[in-house]
Amino acid sequence: MCGIVGAVAERSITPILVEGLKRLEYRGYDSAGVAVFTQSGQLQRCRRVGKVAELAQALAGEPLNGHLGIAHTRWATHGAPSERNAHPHFSGEELAVVHNGIIENHEELRSRLQGLGYVFSSDTDTETIVHLLQHKLQQLGDLAAALKAAIPELHGAYGLAVISAKQPDRILAARSGSPLVIGLGLGENFLASDQLALRQVTDRFMYLEEGDIAEIRRDSVQIWDASGQSVQREQVQYHEGAEAADKGAYRHFMLKEIHEQPKVVQRTLEGRLGTDHVLVQAFGPQAEELFAKVRNVQIVACGTSYHAGMVARYWLEGLAGIPCQVEVASEFRYRKVVVQPDTLFVSISQSGETADTLAALRNAKELGYLASLAICNVGISSLVRESDLTLLTQAGPEIGVASTKAFTTQLVGLMLLTLSLGQVRGTLEAGVAPELVEELRRLPTRLGEALAMDKTVEKIAELFAEKHHTLFLGRGAQYPVAMEGALKLKEISYIHAEAYPAGELKHGPLALVDSDMPVVTVAPNNELLEKLKSNLQEVAARGGQLIVFADQQAGMSNGAGTHVVNMPHIHDALAPILYTLPLQLLSYYVAVFKGTDVDQPRNLAKSVTVE
Ligand code: G6P
Repeated sequence: MCGIVGAVAERSITPILVEGLKRLEYRGYDSAGVAVFTQSGQLQRCRRVGKVAELAQALAGEPLNGHLGIAHTRWATHGAPSERNAHPHFSGEELAVVHNGIIENHEELRSRLQGLGYVFSSDTDTETIVHLLQHKLQQLGDLAAALKAAIPELHGAYGLAVISAKQPDRILAARSGSPLVIGLGLGENFLASDQLALRQVTDRFMYLEEGDIAEIRRDSVQIWDASGQSVQREQVQYHEGAEAADKGAYRHFMLKEIHEQPKVVQRTLEGRLGTDHVLVQAFGPQAEELFAKVRNVQIVACGTSYHAGMVARYWLEGLAGIPCQVEVASEFRYRKVVVQPDTLFVSISQSGETADTLAALRNAKELGYLASLAICNVGISSLVRESDLTLLTQAGPEIGVASTKAFTTQLVGLMLLTLSLGQVRGTLEAGVAPELVEELRRLPTRLGEALAMDKTVEKIAELFAEKHHTLFLGRGAQYPVAMEGALKLKEISYIHAEAYPAGELKHGPLALVDSDMPVVTVAPNNELLEKLKSNLQEVAARGGQLIVFADQQAGMSNGAGTHVVNMPHIHDALAPILYTLPLQLLSYYVAVFKGTDVDQPRNLAKSVTVE
């Protein structure tokens, strides 16, 4: 998704802008550009379709040197990916704008501005912003005043940055629905849509809040809130996760992040487990009081986070006896929903900025839910700020577009929620909380053991190199794990993969099974194992290639066309977390074999901040 970087400094800022864009590459984009107020006293820009490396190469050929600039990675929403649609957008030779988000009234603005004589050179909604600003600037003469006057006319969600050749000592920024952070330096200041972009130049940050407008100069930062009052925002020193934007010894961020799971699961548990129970306060000061009233749970999320919600449903109903519904946010937000009394609304999101999930939360607030809880990986995200309760996962920044460690830490957070609700409501069977708390403490070690199978899974991945379709099977809480396994494989290897509850096999997908269709199955040692084994017989009998990740105590062994990988034994309730790991590794190695762009798969974005 789009990324913004800006800099005003005494040193040359172009390398800072380009490095910042590189650090935002993980969000997914299709084109990139920079605009710099150059030493010749002009605003000049360079834009390229494709990777930031291509932009950097173009800039090496024709350098843009200056002390003020803005830059952008674009993920097309209005207008195809092309150089003319890439940001920054200009109005005349005087103003440049970069923008994340969507201006919903762009058509009306465009015709109004065209009526005033402005000529558009792109198909973007963003270009309406820059001409509107130019129009205001001509009336008001000052960039901050122009931006303040333009904001009420912009409908939609945006984070934006603007520079002017007439006032080339400042960057103006505005935030409404799309995050922005100011990076503070000594005699230099910066702006970005994600602080990761600025970690190379500073560790001091100031996060803009909804409705804020900021004027950023080399030696000052001024911020006005939504009501126009001059305000101070807190300065935050950033230490945590300093290493996250670096691949270290790993070939890809995704592999690094898969291997970080024992550590980040441990962190997510830290401070949240008592001797034999979960510390309900982990969900916030009012959690205990609110949880006591919860009679239903509604979970809403997108993508991988939705799969975490699907697993949680088995836990909430199976362990805590609390009815639970799960829905993808893009459906929930547009549906007429009947809300049961005393229902807790739970949103799950790695980024906390996913447009559909945020919109679902905002709708939910009007619908009479008991309270809202966000399970999220980003403490400063919109989702967290707008929810009554929060449980932060501690996955650290996740760079690979395909989510891995965020998913397993979400599952840990959801298990903590299940146990907390069950404890407070008194609905857990005796002994369940102490037993699972003990198992959770052992979980990081179990995950480490599963990751030790890395090389075995790499070997199996070779079987997939020439395949075009795959089936993933699971039963019970392993069904959503199979769904997540299928999603991972299609996201990064582009092999078509579908997940089915194993019991549905004979109701359709069995027709597809032959020697060209590998079938991947997760088989913990639980009461569904025998049923699963007979499902697998159905596959083997049709010449299908079976890959089974099975509990070492499940009594399954290799046979003709059947590859069994023995997994460490684990408590059945935590099996979905453990069994996710080999499926992540499998997708990773298949993608490596196929030579795809593992960390930035085609057409996908890390953070989907538009509908
Ligand atoms: C995108 C990402 C997925 C992610 C989904 C939801 O599709 O590529 O990895 O699961 O958005 O994102 P969220 O940040 O809300 O978890």
